[in-house]
Amino acid sequence: MSQRMPTTSGLRARPEIEALTAYRLRREALVKLNQNESPWDWPPELKDEVLRRVAARPWNRYPAVDSEALRQALAESCGVSPTMIAVTNGSNEAILALVSTYATGRRVVVTAPGYSMVAPLAVIGGATVQAVPLREDFSLDTEAMVAAVSSPEVAVTIIASPNNPTGNAFARPSLTAVLESARGLVVIDEAYAQFTAASFVGDLSRYGHLAIVRTFSKGFALAGVRVGWIIAGEAVLEAVRKALPPYNVNVFSQEAALVALQRPELVSGRVEALIAERRRLEDAVRAIDGVTTYPSQANFLLLRTRAPAADVFAGLLERGVLVRDVSRGPLLENCLRVTVGTHAENNQFLDALRASVRGRSA
Ligand SMILES: Cc1ncc(COP(=O)(O)O)c(C=O)c1O
Repeated sequence: MSQRMPTTSGLRARPEIEALTAYRLRREALVKLNQNESPWDWPPELKDEVLRRVAARPWNRYPAVDSEALRQALAESCGVSPTMIAVTNGSNEAILALVSTYATGRRVVVTAPGYSMVAPLAVIGGATVQAVPLREDFSLDTEAMVAAVSSPEVAVTIIASPNNPTGNAFARPSLTAVLESARGLVVIDEAYAQFTAASFVGDLSRYGHLAIVRTFSKGFALAGVRVGWIIAGEAVLEAVRKALPPYNVNVFSQEAALVALQRPELVSGRVEALIAERRRLEDAVRAIDGVTTYPSQANFLLLRTRAPAADVFAGLLERGVLVRDVSRGPLLENCLRVTVGTHAENNQFLDALRASVRGRSA
């Protein structure tokens, strides 16, 4: 006999949680280019190596607290001390932990457009959100950002660079100006670090209020494994570790990330191949009448279509290609975001795009 669902009889979620929309995304498509994942799964021999290592670990015991071995390996690869690393369950958890540590009941500054999950994560962490618009060319509005972050009300500023969905890395002088004037913590989300030379890791010794967030989900092709990390000064991390649940990264994820770090040539080879594909895709998109694209330093491109983006999105989907419709965001009218796929997937996308915009210059 099936049980009836109990009523919640007046049980109420926090109003700001009620107001959020749960994260749901269509995932099935012939050509899936909507989540900035790597198009290449891990080679079977590397998967086997992870599985062998996981099998050798006791599953009845909790994993290493603070992901000790992984912390050491990350410290070595980033050129910092292990005390400057905290490992998280994906970088979303890193962002939430930074908000919970510094900004609950206070204000978080973000860019608009910016990474779509950052404002909801700030709200979940109990902060209010101030979105500062980018300039038309998607550069940081340095003056507006400096004015915002100078306020003592602002506890945390979160900037993704390269930014999602615009793809550009922000100019170093603009980010430096934000760092120099911020009263609270400045988080630079370097989720796409492997695809660009731009980074602020070298600036951590100068700025005690800087935290950098990284992930294995993009360049390392491990989105399913859920590992991210924070690089910051010891004082910041000492506080953040108290806000992270103990054993937040499971045995499997720790081992997979360790194996990834032991094979840097695999990661860099694939990143190079992906950047070459991105350049090819950029040139090909520019040659299509009715579509423009913007310079990207990540593994995706932002496109702007002359025809309504929703129609182009639907046209692509009809042809089996799933991209992200970001056209409802600020400054993003008629914009679509497309992840760089394999050579064959990119060709399918280009064919589908040509067919979808043909004769649709509304
Ligand atoms: C800028 C940015 N930060 C963080 C993330 C989330 O990464 P993770 O899979 O590590 O939670 C993404 C994913 O798209 C992203 O674009």
